[in-house]
Amino acid sequence: MSEAIGYELIGDIAVLSAQNPPVNALGLDVRQGLVDGMARAENDGAKAVLIYGEGRTYFAGADIREFGKPPTGPFLPDVCTRIEASPLIVVSALHGTALGGGLEIALGSHYRVAVPSARVGLPEVLIGVMPGAGGTQRLPRLIGVDASVDIITSGRQVGAKEALELGILDRVEDGAPRDIGLAYARELIDSGAPRRAISEMAAPQAVDFDALYDVVLKKSRGMIAPAKAVRGVQACCELPFDQGMIRERELFMELMASDQRQGMIHAFFSERAVGKLPELKGVEPRDLNAIGVIGGGTMGAGIATSALLSGLSVVMLEMSPEAAEAAKGRIEGNLGGALKRGKLSQAQFEDLTTKALTLSTDYAALGDVDLVIEAVFEDMEVKKTVFTQLDAVCKPGAVLASNTSYLDINEIAASTNRPSDVIGLHFFSPAHVMKLLEIVVADKTAPDVVATGFALGNRMKKTSVRAGVCDGFIGNRILSTYRTCADHMILDGASPYQIDKALTDFGFAMGPFAVADLAGLDIGWAVRKRKRAEGLDPRARDSSYADKLCEDGNFGQKTGKGYYVYEAGKRAGVPNPDVMPLIEAERAEQGLTSREFADDEIVRRYMAAMVNEAAKVVGEGIARRPLDVDVTLLYGYGFPRYRGGPLKWADMVGLPELLADIKKWAEEDDYFWQPAPLLEQLVAEGRTFDDLNKESA
Ligand code: NAI
Repeated sequence: MSEAIGYELIGDIAVLSAQNPPVNALGLDVRQGLVDGMARAENDGAKAVLIYGEGRTYFAGADIREFGKPPTGPFLPDVCTRIEASPLIVVSALHGTALGGGLEIALGSHYRVAVPSARVGLPEVLIGVMPGAGGTQRLPRLIGVDASVDIITSGRQVGAKEALELGILDRVEDGAPRDIGLAYARELIDSGAPRRAISEMAAPQAVDFDALYDVVLKKSRGMIAPAKAVRGVQACCELPFDQGMIRERELFMELMASDQRQGMIHAFFSERAVGKLPELKGVEPRDLNAIGVIGGGTMGAGIATSALLSGLSVVMLEMSPEAAEAAKGRIEGNLGGALKRGKLSQAQFEDLTTKALTLSTDYAALGDVDLVIEAVFEDMEVKKTVFTQLDAVCKPGAVLASNTSYLDINEIAASTNRPSDVIGLHFFSPAHVMKLLEIVVADKTAPDVVATGFALGNRMKKTSVRAGVCDGFIGNRILSTYRTCADHMILDGASPYQIDKALTDFGFAMGPFAVADLAGLDIGWAVRKRKRAEGLDPRARDSSYADKLCEDGNFGQKTGKGYYVYEAGKRAGVPNPDVMPLIEAERAEQGLTSREFADDEIVRRYMAAMVNEAAKVVGEGIARRPLDVDVTLLYGYGFPRYRGGPLKWADMVGLPELLADIKKWAEEDDYFWQPAPLLEQLVAEGRTFDDLNKESA
C-alpha cells in the first residue's frame, strides 16, 4: 500500500484515508493508494468503503507539482472508474475543498456526505483546461445540463448547502469527516441501500449545444476552455457513457496542448510567485491594527472601505467637516454594496461605519495609527505638505504611504525625517474591488516596511506586486506607452472605436479609450499638461484633440460624455459624434494623411509597444521579473488571463518577430520605437522572458 492512503477495516467497513499533506493533492502515490485500497477492501470481504481526507481537506485537486511532467498511471479517470465499478458501496465524506479531480473522485463514489463548511467545484477552466476524469460525464447525469454547465464553465466553488440542494451531495452533517462518513456507511449497509454508480444513471436530454457553445465563448471573451467543456457536457447527453469519457479525454487533451492553457498556467504560478521576494525572507512586518487615510475622494474612500472590510480601524482625515462627511457617504455607499450582496449584516455595517471609522480634520487624530495612506490630489506640493505634517504627528515606526499614480516616492520621502518608513501603496480604482496593489519601494524604504505593505495587501485580499520608483511605476508607465501608441494610430487614420473593438476582440476587458472614459479624461489631461510643462522631446508626436474634449468639460463616464456618450443608467456608451471631427481637424492641422489600419496591425502595434516598455521596466529593475509585469497587467489593466500577460504572450508569438516589427516601425518613428535593450539581448541570446522568470525562482 502507498503511504499516502491509510487503510483500516472497521467491522465490515474499509476506511481509506488520504494522508498527503497539505491538501491531499491527487499525486501518483494517492492515485495508486486508492486503487490498491479498493482491491484490498474487496479482498477483505468489506461491505462498504469510506473515503475521506486526514488534515485540512478531502482531495483538493490535482497535484500541481505534476503539471507539465509526463503523466504516469494509474490515471485519474481510471481511478474514478475503478472506485465506481466496485461491487461494494463506496461513500465519500467531504470537508475543506473538493475541487477538480477531488470532486471527480467523490463523483466516482456512490454516496456523498459533507460537513457544512465544505466546498466543491470543477475549477479546471481557470487553468485553461476542463474536467478530464469524468466531471463532464458524471455531473450532468447527477444535476442536469443547466446546473452542471454553470459550475463547469464558471469554475466557481459551490458551498455544501447549495451542493445539497443541487443533488451533488446526498447529505450535509456536522462532525468529523471520518465519523459522519462511518455513520452514513453503516446506515446504508443496514438499510440495504444499493450501489449507485452515476455512470449507470440516465443522461439528461440534449439541448441546443451549438447555441450554448456560442453563448459561453462570448461570455468568456475568447477563452476556449469553458466552451470546450460545453462540448463535453454535450457528449454526456448524446453518447453512451464510455464513449462520452473518450470524447471528454480528447477535448481535455486538445486544451492541454493549447497556448491558452500555457497562458493560464503561467498566470496561476505567477500570481503565487509575486509575493515571494528573497529580500523579505525572515523579515517580520510591523503591527497593523489602525490605519489613517488622508483624502476621502474616489480612492481614499475605496481604500478605507477595503481596510474596514479587512478588520482594520480607520481614521479618515479630510480638509473640512463637509468633505469628511462626503467621504463617509462614499464609504457607506461602497459598504452598502456588500450589505446588499449579503456579504455584510446590518449590524456589521453599523459597527464598521460608526465604531471602526473615525472622521477628522485634525492631524493629531493620526497620532496612534500604525500606517497612513495618503490619497489627496495628485500634486507634489500638496503631497509634500501632507507628509511634513504626518512626520510631525505620527508615532515612531508608523508606515507612511502614498497612493500616488505617478509621482516620485523618493521626493515625497525626502520631505520627512524618516524616509525609511515611506513607501508607495498604489491601489486601483475602485480600490475596494480591484485586486491589484503595487508596492512601490523607494531608495530608502526599510525591508520591514515593504513586508508591512505586503501584509496589508494580504489582509485586504489583494494581489501585491513589488515595483520600483519611476514615472508611473510598473503599470501606469506601461499604460502611458501603449496608450501613446494608440494615439499615434489615431493620428495616422484609425478611430478610437476601431482600436477599442480590435483590443476587446483580442480579449481585453475594455479598450484603451473606454478605459480612459472610466478612469476620467481629466487624469490623462493632467499628466499631459505636466509632461508638456516639464518639456517634451521635440521628436515626440503630440496631439491636442483629447484636451479639447476636456476643455469642454467632457471627462468621460463621470460627466456622461467622453470618447463615448453614456446614457443614464447604462454602463456601455455609444461613440460620441463630436470626437471624429476633433480628430480630423487635428490630422488636418498636422498635415497628416489617413490610412486604413487592419485590426491585426492595431493589435500588433499596441502589443509591441506594451511589450517593449515592459522589457524596459524589467531591464531597469522597476519590476523584478517579467512575471511581475504580467501579474500587474492581468490584475490592474484587464489583460486577458488566458494569454498569460504581455510578456508570456510575447514569448509565445516569438521575441525575434516582435523585435523585427519594432525595428521596422522605427524607420517611420525612431523616437517612439526604440527597442528595449533587454529585448535585444534576449533575442541575441535566443532566450525568452520566461527563462528570466525561471532563473530568478
Ligand atoms: P479625488 O479628487 O477623488 O480625491 C482627493 C480627496 O483628497 C478629496 O476628497 C479632497 O478633499 C482630499 N484632499 C485634498 N487635499 C487634502 C489635504 N491636504 N488633506 C486632506 N484631504 C485632502 O482624487 P482620487 O481620484 O481619489 O485620487 C487621489 C490620489 O490617488 C491621487 O494621488 C491619484 O493620482 C491617486 N490614484 C487615483 C486613481 C484613480 O483611478 N482615480 C487610481 C490610483 C491612484
